[in-house]
Parts: sequence; structure tokens; C-alpha cells
Amino acid sequence: MKNEHRFLEVAIDAVKEAGKIQKKYFGHFHQIEYKGEINPVTEVDRQCERAITQIVLNAYPHHDILAEEGAFEKKNSPYKWIIDPLDGTTNYLHGFPIFSVSIGLEIEGEIRVGVVYLPILEEMFFAEKGKGAFLNGQRITVSQTAQLKESLLGTGFPYDVHEHVDDYLRYFREFIIKSFAIRRPGSASIDLAYVAAGRFDGFWELKLHPWDVAAGCLLVKEAGGSVTDFKGQPVNIYSEEILASNGLIHKEMLRVIQEVNKRSASGIAQSAK
Ligand code: IPD
Ligand code: CA
Ligand code: CA
Repeated sequence: MKNEHRFLEVAIDAVKEAGKIQKKYFGHFHQIEYKGEINPVTEVDRQCERAITQIVLNAYPHHDILAEEGAFEKKNSPYKWIIDPLDGTTNYLHGFPIFSVSIGLEIEGEIRVGVVYLPILEEMFFAEKGKGAFLNGQRITVSQTAQLKESLLGTGFPYDVHEHVDDYLRYFREFIIKSFAIRRPGSASIDLAYVAAGRFDGFWELKLHPWDVAAGCLLVKEAGGSVTDFKGQPVNIYSEEILASNGLIHKEMLRVIQEVNKRSASGIAQSAK
């Protein structure tokens, strides 16, 4: 088969290769550098990125690459591979086995292929536009939970949380009151894959990057869910807000976000409510 039709296969080969590297060094000491006060990067992130981009560029030398750790020559191709070589680096460094490799392929501005791979749990989530979402070859769909008060939600905190803790906690506070429970696994691509698989009913986060969400957004949509910004507009992976859900609780989640926004705009302290 020609390479043009092998996008998913190439993405899967690449995440598996990165997964092998992650497994090999998991639990060993890592030389850590910091991109920000609490934003770590290791040689494993870089090695995974090299392995992935080598596989992708070997198959498609004229395609563009947008990857977290390195700058790549701009080729103005309609094809762009969007890569998080290790999503959940903080977990990885602490021996916490929830981390992934995430690859999305954007074609003419639209995500058409998405793969999220968890090497320790050996879970391979993948989707192609219009063909559904899968976990280890089995079709997955979002949950049927119809009410926020029965919902398990996921979220995460951006790396500037120390400077904006109150802003992020406002949403957290309101959702923890209105939902069944919240988890913060530490890998946005996994959070989205879990919405697609019906493990989470909804997920929100701010200030994510395209490599955190490209693959996961496609997974959620192909599993029958909804992904928007905080105003309910279709998601743009380059923007700062993401709200993903099974679709059934989406409006309720949007309402919570809008209430929080309104309250903080009017400067009313939470304790006064
Ligand atoms: C991070 C994870 C985390 C999210 C952060 C991301 P990284 O990615 O996805 O869940 O809360 O905002 O930056 O740095 O581990 O690739
Ligand atoms: Ca990430
Ligand atoms: Ca990363």
C-alpha cells in the first residue's frame, strides 16, 4: 500500500516506538531540566520525539511537524503531524504510570488521525475522521450519563498554576460541588481519551497546547462526544480553552463555566455567595 493511505499505521508505529523508550527508562533516575518553575523535560521526552519524528519523516519527508520539544523546518505542507512525545512528564518522573504518547495528523486544518498510547497499561486509543474511535481495536463510545451531578469529570492545571491558582480553582470549586467527583490524572491526552472511552463524562482545562489535545479531540468526536471552547464554539486546538464531554452534559458544564466567569467578572468573592 502506498504511504498516502498509511497515516494511521505510521502514527501507531511511531507511538509504539516512543512507548518502548518510555518503558525502558521508567522508574530510573532522570536528569531533569525545567522549561518553567514546575514544567519538567527529560532526555526521555527528547528521545521519544526523535524516534517519532524519524518514523514520520521517513514515511512523509515533505510533511510539517509540530512537536513539543523541538523546532522543525516549515514546509508549508497541508499535512501537519502534531506530537506530544510524552504527555504526563511529571507523572513519569515520579513513577506514576499514567502517561502517554500523543500524535494527531492535521490535514488542511482538520484533524484526521489521532492516536494516544499508554505504554504501561498497553492501551492504544486511535481514531480516523469519520471512522469511529477504538481502544486496542475495539470500538469505543462516550458515556450515557445524562446529568452533571452523576458525572465523573477530569481536569488538569496549567504550568502557571502558582501565579493563577484562584482563577483555576474557581472552576474546580464549582464543578466539585455540582458533579459526582473529579480526577486529575496529569495527562491531557489521556483525559480526552478517557472521555472518548466513557470513563470520564466530561473534562475541562485551560492553556493546553495543540500537542496535548490534537489526537484526543478527534477521539472524543469520533466516539460521539462534544468538544468546544468555554463559550460553546467548536474547538480550536490552538486556543486556550477546552471543554469535552459525552455531549449529554455539555450544556450543563458550559452553564457552570459561564456562571463562574460572570461571578469573577463582577468581582464577587466566592465566600460571599
Ligand atoms: C501536561 C499534561 C497535564 C496538563 C498540563 C500539560 P506534559 O503535559 O497534559 O495533564 O495539566 O497542562 O502541559 O508537559 O506532561 O506534556
Ligand atoms: Ca502535554
Ligand atoms: Ca510532553
